[in-house]
Amino acid sequence: MSLRRTKVVAALAGVALLAAGLTACSSERETTPEETSGSGGAAVAGGELIGIAMPTKSLERWNKDGAHLEELLEDAGYETTLQYADNKVDQQITQIQNMINLDPAVLVIASIDGTALGPVLQQAADAGIKIVAYDRLINETENVDYYATFDNYKVGQLQGEFIVDALDLDNAAGPFNLEPFAGSPDDNNAKFFFSGAWDVLSPYVESGKLVVPSGKAPASNDDWASIGIQGWLSDTAQSEMQNRLNSFYGSDKVDVVLSPNDSLALGIEQALESSGYAVGTDWPIVTGQDADQANVVNMLAGRQSMTVWKDTRTLGDQVATMVDQIVKGETVTVNDEETYDNGVKVVPTYLLPPQVVTADTVQSALVDSGFYKASDLGL
Ligand code: GAL
Repeated sequence: MSLRRTKVVAALAGVALLAAGLTACSSERETTPEETSGSGGAAVAGGELIGIAMPTKSLERWNKDGAHLEELLEDAGYETTLQYADNKVDQQITQIQNMINLDPAVLVIASIDGTALGPVLQQAADAGIKIVAYDRLINETENVDYYATFDNYKVGQLQGEFIVDALDLDNAAGPFNLEPFAGSPDDNNAKFFFSGAWDVLSPYVESGKLVVPSGKAPASNDDWASIGIQGWLSDTAQSEMQNRLNSFYGSDKVDVVLSPNDSLALGIEQALESSGYAVGTDWPIVTGQDADQANVVNMLAGRQSMTVWKDTRTLGDQVATMVDQIVKGETVTVNDEETYDNGVKVVPTYLLPPQVVTADTVQSALVDSGFYKASDLGL
């Protein structure tokens, strides 16, 4: 460990002790002081330290997000402290409090529960710290200065349109059996994903071209949380899919599963396999999001039809730029000042475009761009 890193670890360990050892109760090792990553001792005294709070290490994308943003900021001369919260809201709040004590210039936060951070962000605002919501909007507080994300509604729309095209819903006779899923009810993005997809698919459900044998089709977009999978857990999605297959499918087969992201898709694919579905015969269309490595491998094996890829490097680039603009007192670049109302105000946002990747475009989109090495994917 370098001297610079030792210094910040020591400082963070002190703060963690002050926080009554709360982080030490963590079940996720990376949140202990020793595992905290960061750079430079000088910034601990104030100045250009940037705090980065990420939700969990258990999903691949957040690991990539955190590492990339940290690297960009350090290359630009900032000091950083990066914390992961094991998907536990209290843990994230404690981590943010610890960061506030280090007097950062900006906090970049990918929240777990977007409605739970109001009080701690008031502390940050009182200390003059600016807040950037990363990927997920933070709700019910005026103390969120900017938001950067991918176009979340568009993610769902791309999934819905993929299904319409893949089944040729405008021409085929149907009906086709659909099982829809939605993301974590506490994640502000999940309702956008569902709305984007359901605005495309629900007309076909109403016309009878798509049938939902389990009955788990929300009555409206607003009811999406009734089919939400808390914490985006693969295991929960797997047992939910297994239950639906066991209870509502006899000789009938499911033709298509709307999965909002890759972690859910993994569980769904596991349930399909356990129920005897086979690639090349009756394996259904399964959607996803994030281009996680295991899912890309599954796409190449025919177990997943598509993923919506959000090149997290571009989000990191954008957020690093915004942070730099904030610190330098420059105008912060945004491109959407209408969509993301957090209940208190419309948060100025920078939206990035997501894109569909299928087995056919893995090489051109994910490998040629350097997002994965061919060997990561068995290519
Ligand atoms: C969302 C995020 C998705 C997905 C999901 C689970 O908020 O936008 O990309 O990763 O969380 O972590």
